[in-house]
Amino acid sequence: MIVIGSDHAGYPLKEKIREYLEENAIPFTDCGVFSEASADYALIAEEACKKIVSGEAEKGILCCGTGIGISMAANKVRGIRAACCSDYYSAKLTRMHNDANVLCLGARVIGWGHALELVNVFLTTEFEGGRHQRRIDQITDIENRR
Ligand code: RB5
Repeated sequence: MIVIGSDHAGYPLKEKIREYLEENAIPFTDCGVFSEASADYALIAEEACKKIVSGEAEKGILCCGTGIGISMAANKVRGIRAACCSDYYSAKLTRMHNDANVLCLGARVIGWGHALELVNVFLTTEFEGGRHQRRIDQITDIENRR
């Protein structure tokens, strides 16, 4: 299960991602928003990320204008490793090396065709583990010390 969400600025791209998931029969849940009326990205990020840490969803894809604000908010949720990406290599490597569980995209930064390529590589690339697991554990340790 994939959870998707956006603020108003990310809404048009989130809708393209929703269509992509439907066309590819990828199960998802949509935390909104459902229009371009002004909305606050932190609240959507928290709602979506809670579904990941509870186990209801495996990964998330979140959109705002730049992808930055919603990634900052997502990374405040314990257990979330959100990556704001605008290039293919980063979207792939953040799965292989960082075991990112949330991809954040900037609807005002990248075109939707490119964004769907990033979604595809993010959802299909496995974490490599090994030495990278040690580094993920160190990130978790930071969360546990605060
Ligand atoms: C909304 O205008 C915009 O600030 C938001 O979507 C996002 O880009 C923030 O990081």
